[in-house]
Amino acid sequence: MKERSNLKSYLLGPLIIFSFLSCAEVTEHKPGLKDAYKEYFYIGAALNTSQYKGEDERAKPILETHFNSITPENDMKWENIHPEPDRFFFDNADQYVAFGEEKGMFIIAHALIWHQQTPNWVFEHEDGTPLTRDELLARMENHIKTIVGRYKGRIHGWDVVNEALNDDGTMRESPWYTIIGEDYVEKAFQFAHEADPDAELYYNDYNLPDPEKADGAIRLVKSIQEKGIKVSGIGMQGHYGFDYPTMEALETSILKFSELGVVAITELDIEVLPLAFEYMGADLNVRVDLADSLNPFTEGLPPEVEQQQLDTYKAMFEVFLKHSDKINRVTTWGVTDGDSWKNYWPIPGRTNYPLLFDRAGNEKRVVEELIRLAEEKK
Ligand code: GLA
Repeated sequence: MKERSNLKSYLLGPLIIFSFLSCAEVTEHKPGLKDAYKEYFYIGAALNTSQYKGEDERAKPILETHFNSITPENDMKWENIHPEPDRFFFDNADQYVAFGEEKGMFIIAHALIWHQQTPNWVFEHEDGTPLTRDELLARMENHIKTIVGRYKGRIHGWDVVNEALNDDGTMRESPWYTIIGEDYVEKAFQFAHEADPDAELYYNDYNLPDPEKADGAIRLVKSIQEKGIKVSGIGMQGHYGFDYPTMEALETSILKFSELGVVAITELDIEVLPLAFEYMGADLNVRVDLADSLNPFTEGLPPEVEQQQLDTYKAMFEVFLKHSDKINRVTTWGVTDGDSWKNYWPIPGRTNYPLLFDRAGNEKRVVEELIRLAEEKK
């Protein structure tokens, strides 16, 4: 007996060591951004359809290693999820949520009420005449309650209203505002809360480090909260550049917003190309005179520009880390440079580099630096 058990341990020993090693090989993965920032905030990415469907092979390992929160880039916007008055389209959103659950992600939905990517019929009767306030409120309630209700308890946070403000902090005269009035925002939050009382509900907008717009957002959100209606906090989109915002303005606005609830950076990207707003929509194949100056990095990002972007990302993450007790999530708007909307906005056909991963799906140097930054804080 003794001999046999000895023989057994003789054979089993190496086997155990071998399987332990191979297991470690399989499960051990390089710590990513999400690990480095675990005790500070979620690291999120906006996903396109092929990414949450698992069809984008480049994105798969990146999502696995670096991200623990997701936002649907387009598939839960009104035009996609509710394309006709009596037709919702849930196939994609269902898969998006299932993907997030399978990966244990903090799942965000974007965006219930917005003036863009919302079909005209939303605001009109069949004959094209505008809806009344009550009719539009009923349509809004149906939209919000149908969608939020469907994913009750499964989606952690909703961008309830997107971009309701002008840059001077006044209300944008969108059809929501002109037909319903200023209280459309509070109604949207009320309907969302009724549909899922536990979900986080955010007001989301761009240029929020600008003091006038920040104060407008605070006025708006505060007035809703004072009526006892839940707004969990503010989503600062974060479409930033080398000179915008200043770190001081970024920090000041985070501090101000934190008095109202959670702060999330919801759509971070850092522009490296020349501003092109004045050429909005210009076709560079036609305007060849503009092509070189507006689209200078078709052959790759020069190291000094990459360095400048790295420094800017780092400076911003230093601010985020400093106020990590107030920030619950930092989400980039896209996964790799090739996915970014910045390749086609404000003019199409540019080669842009706004994100943390390059077109081939490789980490840019900034990723390691951001990981180091978080680790140095520990
Ligand atoms: C805004 C919206 C996003 C997205 C970006 C650009 O920031 O909130 O959904 O459309 O513009 O793509």
